[in-house]
Amino acid sequence: MEFQFADRLLKLPPYVFGKLNALKLELRRKGIDIIDLGMGNPDKGAPDSVVSKTLEVLKDPKTHRYSRSKGISQLLKEVAVYYKKKYRVDLDPEKEIVATIGSKEGLSHLALALLNPGDTVLVPAPAFPIHIWSVVLAGGNVITIPLEKLLGPNFIEELAKTYDSLWPKPKFILLNFPHNPTTAVADRNFYEKMTAFALENNLMIIHDFAYADITFDGYKAPSFLEIPDAKKIGVEFITMSKSFSMAGWRIGFCLGNAQIVQALEKIKGYYDYGIFTPVQVGSIIALRHEWEEAPQKYAQIYENRRNVLIEGLNKAGWNIDKNKNKATMFVWAPIPEEYKKTGSVRFSRFLLEEAEVCVSPGNSFGEEGEGFLRISLVENEKRIQQAVKQIKKAMSSTSPEEVMEKYPAGF
Ligand SMILES: Cc1ncc(COP(=O)(O)O)c(C=O)c1O
Repeated sequence: MEFQFADRLLKLPPYVFGKLNALKLELRRKGIDIIDLGMGNPDKGAPDSVVSKTLEVLKDPKTHRYSRSKGISQLLKEVAVYYKKKYRVDLDPEKEIVATIGSKEGLSHLALALLNPGDTVLVPAPAFPIHIWSVVLAGGNVITIPLEKLLGPNFIEELAKTYDSLWPKPKFILLNFPHNPTTAVADRNFYEKMTAFALENNLMIIHDFAYADITFDGYKAPSFLEIPDAKKIGVEFITMSKSFSMAGWRIGFCLGNAQIVQALEKIKGYYDYGIFTPVQVGSIIALRHEWEEAPQKYAQIYENRRNVLIEGLNKAGWNIDKNKNKATMFVWAPIPEEYKKTGSVRFSRFLLEEAEVCVSPGNSFGEEGEGFLRISLVENEKRIQQAVKQIKKAMSSTSPEEVMEKYPAGF
């Protein structure tokens, strides 16, 4: 049988992480112990108090029924309390907050709720893949702005120049700070100017705040919603995945502008019956009792691993600036100069096969990521030290020219 599937499926290239995983699995099946610094998959479990409350609730069969699509009201109230105590931001739990099955789901369905075919969206590049593909799947067109320009001193002028040259005008801009993959951060001044620009131009701001709490060296990331007018033009996505190490639980929130939140809520009402109630109750406990301690604990673990990785690779001749890696669970590492010509895909392939270390090629986040690797801090310090050793050894025994000869340019 030859089936004909939707055209939108054809627009999607194979998911980078999928290809990387396939190769990694193949090597593992051969008995090779790959050190996996590829995907940003948190390796620590949720806080104990969250797990025990969830187990307790799980025993009540009433919680096994369909839940409420937008999130149970006690949870939405708890999120409002959390934003108030953490950022001094007031939110109406029923109108300005909706629970999502993680931010990936929320972002995807929000694009469906906001975009008509042919609409355009501004996305800084390099970009986390869902920031691009959620728009494409919704029939929209992505206009990329180099992230470097957006974070430069004249960013509003640069943005205005791009904006003025476009027709139709973009519906929204998708921001994400601390940023995956580059780890770049934005300050309050940035959000203030962006908010003013967006208000003036009737542009919505969607801010993916997945790494809100995974910050290092005393740096604290501001919430976009702290800007007084932010709620007039935008929403922020937060997730339990990183701050509370609950990635597999699949829960996050979209907060802010009531019209945007309710557009997402409406579309989700058709697609899902809500997150499993015990997970929602566990999240209440996390936000109520663990909101300060747990994220700090997880951030400290990633910070220590970042230090080990950067110090180790720099000793081996790499040139990674710690001050530019102040947040997220990644290190955005420039490929050492002499190997740069191999390209990030080929170099990652070489590291996977010869150093037995899996990392993500910068290029898989867009051309603007070429020349870099995204290294996830999801193995313990010992394994990271081991990874550094293996990388050093592989590089000392294989020249850039040999890497070029042995590996294809693409996956
Ligand atoms: C920037 C960014 N947004 C969203 C997500 C997805 O998060 P969630 O688990 O909430 O779907 C990730 C996960 O890696 C991410 O890095």
